[in-house]
Amino acid sequence: MMSLLEVKNLKTYFHTKEGIVKAVDDVSFTLEEGEAIGLVGESGCGKTTTALSITSLLPEEGTIAGGEIHYNGKNLVELNSNQIRRYRWNEISIAFQGAMNALNPVKKIGEQLTDVMMYHNKLDYKAARKKAKGLMELVEIDPERIDQYPHEFSGGMKQRVMIAMALACDPKILIGDEPTTALDVMVQAQILELLEKLRQELGMSLILITHDLSVMAETCDKAVVMYAGKIVETGTVENVINHSSHPYTQKLVKAFPDIHGKREMTESIPGSPPDLINPPTGCYFHPRCEQATEECKKTAPTLREIAKDHYVACHLRGE
Ligand SMILES: Nc1ncnc2c1ncn2[C@@H]1O[C@H](COP(=O)(O)OP(=O)(O)OP(=O)(O)O)[C@@H](O)[C@H]1O
Ligand SMILES: [Mg+2]
Repeated sequence: MMSLLEVKNLKTYFHTKEGIVKAVDDVSFTLEEGEAIGLVGESGCGKTTTALSITSLLPEEGTIAGGEIHYNGKNLVELNSNQIRRYRWNEISIAFQGAMNALNPVKKIGEQLTDVMMYHNKLDYKAARKKAKGLMELVEIDPERIDQYPHEFSGGMKQRVMIAMALACDPKILIGDEPTTALDVMVQAQILELLEKLRQELGMSLILITHDLSVMAETCDKAVVMYAGKIVETGTVENVINHSSHPYTQKLVKAFPDIHGKREMTESIPGSPPDLINPPTGCYFHPRCEQATEECKKTAPTLREIAKDHYVACHLRGE
């Protein structure tokens, strides 16, 4: 069966004065209808770049150097910017990292919502305003507040507005890039519940980007763990979290001692992620891995299926 979204051997590079940054380096995963997938990994591992590649929102210095992104059977990488515009908002939509500060401070919330719908969905003002109120209700904000300004909203409410905005054109896939980061724990929980509700009520698929494993565990079916632009482990959330196999994932899981409780990293992983312009030889994780062997220093491991719905890229893990 064809997946709703299939990312295949995606490579996204940034051209900088210092050299080429391979931010996403041969990443593949699939997303089914109604499914929620979590992209996790430390800062700089390529999560946002993956999302920007899927939505064609890369900055000028970024290019898709290889691979395919199939949505409903169409390879989005081959579309021109006009064609791709029809997919963004209407099919695949993104709520950005720290987006609550991206709201226009001098425009009323309602106006910002209706603008999106009038422009991308060609709704007239009346229809857009009606829909905006409906969306506010959906994200559990009193529609009576439609004519208020962003500064009159709390951080959590602004984040809800950003989610409402991403939903304005009824997308099939919602990408949330750290939608709960910077919010207090109570508000985080509410936003996660909201995402779950949207998934159930609208049958939407979700790509949740987070550096927080506990957030992912609560919300997602599948997990993709990235390290330095590559997938090191993927599978069901159960497999990846409760039976994590890659030394990096294991350290990540250990850093969140109470997956279902406190949402904060208590222990950081020793060492730092590699320089993506001059990455290490072999397995990119080997300089930080206590179990690394000579082989790990020499050859890059590829993803292998170690159990049903469980893939790991590590020389130390057998078939
Ligand atoms: N415009 C750019 N020019 C050059 N390098 C970039 C650019 N944007 C991102 N990068 C680099 O690409 C790599 C991946 O960045 P990305 O933003 O995708 O990481 P991330 O996983 O989203 O991190 P975070 O958790 O901090 O948001 C990093 O090394 C980053 O420095
Ligand atoms: Mg990011």
